Amino acid sequence: MRHVIAGNWKMYKDSEQARKYFQELGSRAAPDASRVEVLMFPGFVALGSLACQGVVPSWVSLGAQDVSSEPEGAFTGEVSPSMIRAAGGTFVLLGHSERRHVVGESDALVRAKLLNAVQGGLSPVLCIGESLKEREEGRVREVLFRQLDSALAGACITPAMRLMIAYEPVWAIGTGVNALPVQIDEAHALVRERITELLGPGIARDVPILYGGSIKPANFAEIIALKSVDGGLVGGVSLSPVTFMELVTMAAG
Ligand code: PGA
Repeated sequence: MRHVIAGNWKMYKDSEQARKYFQELGSRAAPDASRVEVLMFPGFVALGSLACQGVVPSWVSLGAQDVSSEPEGAFTGEVSPSMIRAAGGTFVLLGHSERRHVVGESDALVRAKLLNAVQGGLSPVLCIGESLKEREEGRVREVLFRQLDSALAGACITPAMRLMIAYEPVWAIGTGVNALPVQIDEAHALVRERITELLGPGIARDVPILYGGSIKPANFAEIIALKSVDGGLVGGVSLSPVTFMELVTMAAG
């Protein structure tokens, strides 16, 4: 499977900063698309401004960091799948740990968003992961299975939807402490096991499982070399086109 490198800008970069970033990215040689797929998740405002500017290199797919659970209606502040698609987004992050733990999104809401996203033609990147307390209590398996079950059980997922799972332990996000290779391998094996049960082997086999949490050039070679890792979801280090491209190059290598 080719690797996936996804950048999550979180609440950083306005439209002008986003334009400059992609100009810089576009000045570099395109990575080998048969070896690496590149996704970027700007904030909604920057995403909306990029569509018609022609600065985003053709080898980058854009996505949104969140989406409404409803197709349209009186939902102040929400953004629908069709709005994201109109802005050039084809992917969406769902259930990112900051949405679950800072904003307070429930498993049920993440599921509703996932179903609305795929019905609206967006490809979901479902983020899951345990907190430090849950890990210390030996509940990694239980938490990952619960998050996968609640989002995916009974959902009709087809290969065309391009579902991806991002395993991001909460304690590794933005902390500088990445999970150890053995911890990543264990968690990814659990994810692969459960999605195979939930989706069937034919679908699950092709679902990429990304690791996320304090990825940087210094630790990424070891992480991307793991057979269980199909790619990386990168926060802080994706904010610089220079370091982001280092990761893209490593993933393609
Ligand atoms: P980080 O964030 O790379 O800054 O740890 C990862 C993420 O939130 O997806």
